[in-house]
This record gives sequence, C-alpha cells and structure tokens, in this order.
Amino acid sequence: MSLEIELRSVTKRFGGNAALDGVDLHVPAGQIHAVIGPNGAGKSTLFGAVAGELPLDTGTVLLDGRDVTGASPQRRVRLGIGRAFQVARLFPTLSVRDNIVAAVLSRQGKSLVFWSARAVRAARVEAEHLLDELRLGDLTTRLAGSLSQGDRKRLEIAMVLALSSRVLLLDEPTAGMSPEETEATVHLVRQLWAERELTVLITEHDMDVVFGLAQAVTVMYRGSVLCTGDPETVRARPDVADVYLGGVE
Ligand SMILES: Nc1ncnc2c1ncn2[C@@H]1O[C@H](COP(=O)(O)OP(=O)(O)O)[C@@H](O)[C@H]1O
Ligand SMILES: [Mg+2]
Repeated sequence: MSLEIELRSVTKRFGGNAALDGVDLHVPAGQIHAVIGPNGAGKSTLFGAVAGELPLDTGTVLLDGRDVTGASPQRRVRLGIGRAFQVARLFPTLSVRDNIVAAVLSRQGKSLVFWSARAVRAARVEAEHLLDELRLGDLTTRLAGSLSQGDRKRLEIAMVLALSSRVLLLDEPTAGMSPEETEATVHLVRQLWAERELTVLITEHDMDVVFGLAQAVTVMYRGSVLCTGDPETVRARPDVADVYLGGVE
C-alpha cells in the first residue's frame, strides 16, 4: 500500500536564496520519517517539492521509482500523495461530515454541479467510516470553522485519507495544540500508519513528538541536509544541537 519517496539533488531557489540546495532524501515505503531543522531551513519547501506544488530548478522526485518531477499536484494525489497543510484548507462554513464528503467526491473527480444523489449517498457512507476511524463522530454536524485546533487537524487528516492517500505529509501537525491534543495526534498518526500501512513524512518542532514517532530523522539547515539517521543517533550529534543554537555556519 505505502509509497517510497526519493529526492535526488533537488534545488529550489526563490530569487537568490536556495530554499533547497541539492537535497537528497530517501523515505522507504512504510516508514515514519521526520524532517527537522530551524525556521527557514527549507522543510515546507521540501514538502512542496514532494507534493508537486513548486517547479524545481534542478533535481528529480521519484515515487516508487517513478519519475514524477514534472507531474502536477493533482496527478500526485492520484498516485497517493496526501498533503495536510500547516494552515488547514477546510470549508469553514460546511459541517465536518460535508467537508469529508467533498474530499471523497473530489477524489472521484466529480464537479460540484454534477454530484448525483447516488454519488453523494455513497460518499456519505464513506465519510461515516472516516468519522469513526478518526473519532470525529461527535462532531459530525459541527461547522468546520468552529473546531478546536486539534479537531481541525483530525478533520484535515480525514480529508487527506478520503483522497485514498498512501503517503501522509504532515507539516507541523501539532502547531498550536494543547499537550493533550498533541498526544492524541501522535497516537492517531501512529494508529493510521499501522492500520493503513502509510508512509509518513512529518515536520515538527516538538522534539517529544519527533522522537516518539519517527523511525528516521533528517535534519535540515539552510536548504541542505545536515544528516539523516535513526532518532537516537541524530539526537546525539553535536552538530544537530549547534544548528538549533544557531552556531553552525
Ligand atoms: N514562496 C516563497 N517565496 C520566497 N521565498 C520563500 C518562499 N517559500 C519559502 N521561501 C524561503 O525559503 C526558505 C525556506 O523556507 P521554508 O521551506 O518555509 O522553511 P521551513 O519550513 O523550514 O521554516 C526561507 O528562507 C523562506 O523565506
Ligand atoms: Mg515550514
């Protein structure tokens, strides 16, 4: 089910500034892989490169060995790339359930105007399953715009899963969450990873989350990969600590 992700020598410049500068990344299928590094290191740009949101200056993006460097975001969604955004993209004036229904219908390529009653009924059934799985059942009729940060994030993940994603890209999923919500999100990601055999690529500021979840960690600094390794090895490296203290040049 899960997808392998590989980036080779990826460079992305904004003006004179290289947000990604020759980045190599390998995420084996089914791995939970965290990308960490200080603000401006290039983490979100890296996600954009995987999701196909940015034209690259150089380099190659491979999904299961298939070159998708020139493929549109829509095509990558069809191949299984699910992107949960740092700032959630929900329909705030629709209910929780209707947000998921909209995601299911969009996966099926149905335009808003041409939803048939039958397609909507089928999408509702699927939405009910996702609501259960993500424990959003109590919030079915709530407007998405009125949710807490944690519930919002769960809805966002449900919408990504409604797209039949095989890769979950989570860009700082616990930003703005309470400690309880953070813990629940970690639990949920681990559960979905196990049940759905996902590949998970996550950026995160909270080191407890990173070391509690990730099987491999990549540290970025100023657009480059400083190191990749298992969490304990990465944590013990003095240059990683230096990056966070701003000491590395
Ligand atoms: N759309 C953009 N236009 C111009 N500069 C950008 C854009 N997106 C990111 N950058 C720059 O690229 C660098 C990396 O940003 P980003 O990938 O958002 O880092 P991170 O997610 O690690 O904080 C930063 O210097 C940022 O200012
Ligand atoms: Mg970012």
